[in-house]
Amino acid sequence: MDFDSILKNRRAINHFDPERDVDDETLKSILEQAVKAPSSYNLQPWKLVVFRDPEKKAALRKLAFDQPKVTEAPVILMFLADRSGWRPENTTMRNVFEDNVKSGKMASDQREWFAGVTQALYGRDDEAMQAFANKNAGLFAMSVMYTASHYGLHTHPMDGFDHDGVKKEFDIPENYWIPMLMAVGHLKPGITIHPKAWRQSYEDMVLKEY
Ligand SMILES: Cc1cc2nc3c(=O)[nH]c(=O)nc-3n(C[C@H](O)[C@H](O)[C@H](O)COP(=O)(O)O)c2cc1C
Repeated sequence: MDFDSILKNRRAINHFDPERDVDDETLKSILEQAVKAPSSYNLQPWKLVVFRDPEKKAALRKLAFDQPKVTEAPVILMFLADRSGWRPENTTMRNVFEDNVKSGKMASDQREWFAGVTQALYGRDDEAMQAFANKNAGLFAMSVMYTASHYGLHTHPMDGFDHDGVKKEFDIPENYWIPMLMAVGHLKPGITIHPKAWRQSYEDMVLKEY
């Protein structure tokens, strides 16, 4: 699918076909393609919880203002933004550093320097940690939505849920914030998607031009 079609076809649909599954292999391919998204220092501070189990989805729906798509869609992804993804002891951060050394981007004695930079940029206070985690997880989520469109699937991002209730119910560790849930599946037959809603123009979006 060309990119214009992906942009046009990616819609937050409200009605998923409960009869049509998204198989494991397709989901895996989508996520492993979408992970090519950019992130701060390539730190990829995100994880996912994948929901397929009807009972778990029903429990999640209760905490997501009873939105029917939570149980209708075959797959719900819970995006976890890792507020501690900049810490030197974080596994992904360690993998990134080692990869940087291997590719010659960093020297092996720069581990402490790297830890200092990421601490100063992303770990200096609560606001910086929150921003770091959420902007990167948000970019990943966008990448998942476009990739799913490319695979002919539909998605729906949701932040209409009880954040702390969901964390508690599914035992999500403290370092994560949940920027959104995302329904993934197929459009229910017979449903007409409304035309794309109003978007800002160039003039609306640009606050200043220098
Ligand atoms: C982070 C985020 C959270 C959202 N949360 C909800 C939600 O909880 N429930 C809902 O019905 N729509 C939700 N939406 C969908 C938006 O309403 C929708 O994306 C917007 O109206 C534009 O429509 P489109 O995505 O079809 O182009 C959310 C969208 C985003 C990006």
